[in-house]
Amino acid sequence: MHQAGHNAASFGESAPALQLGQIFDHHRFRQGTEACRIAFGIPPCTNPFQDFQPYAMLTTNEIRAAFLEYFASKEHQIVASSSLVPRNDPTLLFTNAGMVQFKNVFTGQETRPYSRATTAQKVVRAGGKHNDLDNVGYTARHHTFFEMMGNFSFGDYFKAEAIELAWTLVTKGFGLPKEKLLVTVFAEDEEAAGLWRSIAGLDDSRIIRIATSDNFWRMGDTGPCGPCSEIFYDHGPDVPGGPPGSPDEDGDRFVEIWNLVFMQYFEDPPGVRSPLPRPSIDTGLGLERFAAILQGKRDNYDTDTFLALTQASADVTHQAVDGAFKSSHRVVADHLRSTAFLIADGVLPSKDGRGYVLRRIMRRAMRHLHMMGTKDPVFYKLLPALIQQMGNAYPELVHGEALIRETMRGEEERFKAMLERGLHLLDEEKARLAPGAALPGDVAFRLYDTFGFPLDLTQDALRGSGHDVDVSGFEDAMTIQRQRARAAWSGSGDAAVETIWFEARDRFAASEFLGYSTERADGEVQAIIAGNAFLPEATVGAEVAILLNQTPFYGESGGQAGDTGTLRAAGLEIAVTDTQKKAGDLIVHYGTITHGTLRPGMAVTADVDHARRSAIRAHHSATHLLHEALRRHLGAHVAQKGSLNTPDRLRFDISQPRPVTAEELALVEAEVNERIRENARVVTRSMTPDEAVEEGATALFGEKYGDEVRVVSMGAGDENRNAWSMELCGGTHVERTGDIGQFKIVAESGVSAGVRRIEAVAGKAAENLAVANEQRLNQMAAMMKVGVNEAPERLASLLEERRAMERQIAHLQRQLATGSVAAAGIEQVGAFRLATRNVGETPARELKGLAETILKQGEADVVVLISTAEGKGSVVAAIAPAQADKADAVALVRAASVAMGGKGGGGRRDMAQAGGPDGQAADAAFAAVREALKELT
Ligand code: ALA
Repeated sequence: MHQAGHNAASFGESAPALQLGQIFDHHRFRQGTEACRIAFGIPPCTNPFQDFQPYAMLTTNEIRAAFLEYFASKEHQIVASSSLVPRNDPTLLFTNAGMVQFKNVFTGQETRPYSRATTAQKVVRAGGKHNDLDNVGYTARHHTFFEMMGNFSFGDYFKAEAIELAWTLVTKGFGLPKEKLLVTVFAEDEEAAGLWRSIAGLDDSRIIRIATSDNFWRMGDTGPCGPCSEIFYDHGPDVPGGPPGSPDEDGDRFVEIWNLVFMQYFEDPPGVRSPLPRPSIDTGLGLERFAAILQGKRDNYDTDTFLALTQASADVTHQAVDGAFKSSHRVVADHLRSTAFLIADGVLPSKDGRGYVLRRIMRRAMRHLHMMGTKDPVFYKLLPALIQQMGNAYPELVHGEALIRETMRGEEERFKAMLERGLHLLDEEKARLAPGAALPGDVAFRLYDTFGFPLDLTQDALRGSGHDVDVSGFEDAMTIQRQRARAAWSGSGDAAVETIWFEARDRFAASEFLGYSTERADGEVQAIIAGNAFLPEATVGAEVAILLNQTPFYGESGGQAGDTGTLRAAGLEIAVTDTQKKAGDLIVHYGTITHGTLRPGMAVTADVDHARRSAIRAHHSATHLLHEALRRHLGAHVAQKGSLNTPDRLRFDISQPRPVTAEELALVEAEVNERIRENARVVTRSMTPDEAVEEGATALFGEKYGDEVRVVSMGAGDENRNAWSMELCGGTHVERTGDIGQFKIVAESGVSAGVRRIEAVAGKAAENLAVANEQRLNQMAAMMKVGVNEAPERLASLLEERRAMERQIAHLQRQLATGSVAAAGIEQVGAFRLATRNVGETPARELKGLAETILKQGEADVVVLISTAEGKGSVVAAIAPAQADKADAVALVRAASVAMGGKGGGGRRDMAQAGGPDGQAADAAFAAVREALKELT
C-alpha cells in the first residue's frame, strides 16, 4: 500500500536485466543505505547506484547487500542477524529462520520502533526439525548453515504488497525472466492466487495450488504460523525434475527461491491456533540458491563463496577440487561455515545439546579431511578463507577468530588419533558383513562410546558401501549404558539427601546453561518443586524451586555464587533469589512467585540480574589472575584450597606454609593489576582434562572432571603454556581482563596449618573500597588540620608528643607520690641549701617554672634542675632573692653545661638556662654545680 506508485502493467515484462538501482525509490533508498553499508562493510560511494553491475556479475556479498538496500529503500529497517542460539525461544535448538528474532513482535508481546524490517539471518538447520546433515555435500542445495534473506511486516503491509515487493525485486531488480518463474499458493488461499494473477500477470498454469503442509509455514510445533506462497525458478527441461506438487518435484529442475509467509495465526499448544493481533508478513529467500541462479549455476556449491571455500579445502588437502573428493570438499566447505558461526555465537563442541550437534558437524568434516589424506589438523587452516568471504558481512567471525581457530584445532587434534583407530575397526567390521547387511548397533555404539564417532559420522562413513547402521540396536546399547550410569549414581551417598533431584534428573535432561553468552533467554518450565514434591502449579506467594530446560542463570558451583534475577511471562513474575546446581547437571532456580500462576510447560523469559552478575564475573576472573600471580611470586607449591566469588568480594585459600608478607602481597596485587591493564582477551575453549593439563592449565589435583572441560585462558603465554593464566573452570568470566577494572587485596590470614586465606575485592567493589578509604583519609587530615600529604608526618609527631607526655605524666606522678618536691633532696653545700633534681623526660621548657615552684617552698637557696628529654641535657639554675648577690645562676649553668659537653648558656643572676648534648652526664653536671658553689663560700 505504501508503494502503490508502481505500475502493475509493467510487472508482466520479462525485460533484460536492469541496473538494480533503477527500480529503487532514490530518496528512500538513501535512508537505509548508510546502515546497510556499515552492516555489510560496503565502501561508500557518492552515487549509490553507480557500482551496481548487471545481475550475472553480482557476487554473493553484493546480492546480500542489494537485497537489503532494496528493502531499506522501501522503508524497511535493516536489522542485524540474531545469534544462531535463539535467545527468545526455548523450543528451538538453533535459529532456523529469519523470523525467529521477531517471534514476539508478531504476537504483539514485544514492540519495536519500526513495523517493517529486513535481515540477512544466519541459520543452522541440523539436529532439529529440519535435519539436513546426512545429505549435505552430496546434493546441490543442502546446507547445515545458510543465510536467509527476508523482509518482515509487523501488522503493516500484507499479502498484496508482499507479493508486489518480491516480484519487483526478483524480476526488475535482479532481472530474472518471468518465463522462468512460477509460484505455489496454499490450496485454500484463493486471495493469494488472485494477487499473483493481477500483480505478476501469471496465468493459472504458473500458479500451483498445494494443499499440504509444504505451503503452511510453522517455525516449530508452536509459534506464529500461516499459509505461504513460494516463488520457484525453472532451470529448464534439460534438468530432470517436476514442478512443485508433482511426484518428481524433488528433482533439480524447479528450485524454490523465496517463501512468502502470510503470518496469521499463533499456535500454542500444538494444534491449537488463534489469530495474531494483526496479519503480518515473514519471508525467506535462501541466499545461496538465489546466488546460484543469478550466477548461472545449478549447484549452490558452484557459487563464488563456495568455490573459494572448496578451493581452500583442495589447497590444504592437495586433492583436486572436482576430482574423486568433490563431495568431501563440499562437506568441508559447508561444515566450515556452521562450525565457525556456531563457535562465534558461543557454542563449543561438547557431549550434549547444541554442543553435540556442533561436534557432529565438526567430526564429519574432519573425517572427510582425514579421508583426503591429511595427517595433521587442517580444518582450522580454512578459517582465513571463510573470513575473507564472509568476515565483512559478519564481523563476529573476525572478532572470534582466535577462539574459533583454537577450538577447531583442539577438536581436530583430539579426534585425529581416535578417528584412525575407529575407521580401522569399522573397516574390519565392514569386511565381515554380508552384502547389504546393516552394521550391528553395538559396533556403532562402540565407535561412539570409545572412538567418539557420532552416529551420523558412522553412517556417512558407510555411505556408498551398501551398508546401513542398525539404528535401533545403537539406541538400545545407549539406553543400557544410561541405565547403568544411573544405577551407579543413585547408589552414591549424595542420592539419599535430596532424592527429588535425582528423580527430576531421571525425568528430565540436563539443564542447558546459556549464561556464558547471554544474560537473558527463554526457557520452558519442566518442573516446579517444593517440599520434596513436584507441583502441578504454584501461585502468588509460593516459594518454589523451578527447573527450566535451558537458562542463562548460573547455578552456584566452583565457588561462584548462583545468579539472581527474574523469570517472567505474560501475567507472571518470579523473583529468583538463588540458583543452585543439583544432581550434577540440573540448574535449580529458587524464588518466590510475585505475580500470576506458574505451571510446568510454560515458557518464561529468564533475566539475570546484570549488575550483580557483572560483579561476580569481575571477582571470578580476578581470582584466576590472583591464583597465577601467587604461584609466580610464592612458588609452584601454591595450590587452590578453596574459592568464593560473590558480587562483593573474593576469598581464595591456598596451600602455603607461612604467612604471605606485606611485600609479597603488594607484588601480587601489582601483578594482578598489571594483567588487568593489559586488557587481554579472555578465551574459553573446551577440551579433555588431559589435554588441558598438557597445555599447562592449572587443574585442581584430585578433583574429578568430566570428559569435557572448559579451559579459561588469560594473557600471553610462554614456552610452558599457551596463556599467562590457564585454568579448568566452568564459571562465567569477563570478556577482557580490563573489564575487571581494579583489584585490591584486603586481608591475609591463616585458616589452618599450611593454608592461608587471601581476601580481595575487584571491579566496583574495589572502587568502593578506594573511595571509602579516601574519605577516611580526608577526614583524618582535616582533623589534624593538614593536607593529606602532610598527614603521616603530622601523625608521627603527634604520636611522639603523646609518648613524651605519657612519660612526663608518669614522672610527675612519681614526684607527686614523693611529696614535697624539694624535701627529699636538699643538701648543704657551703653556705647554700642546694636542691638538685634530674627531672628526666620533662621537657626543658618546663624547667624554669618548676624551679620557681621549688624555690617558693622556701626550703632551698639554690635550685638546679636537669632535664634529659631526647637524650640531651638541659639545665636550669634558680637562686632565691636573698642569696642572689652571693651566687650567679649563669655561672652555675655554665659549669653544668660544660660537664654535659656544652658551652654554657645564658640568663640572669637569679635564673639561667643552658644545655649540653650529653644528658647522661647529668650527675657530673650536678657535681660541677656543687664544686662551683663550694668555691663561692
Ligand atoms: N519463515 C519462512 C521460512 O523459513 C520464511 O521459510
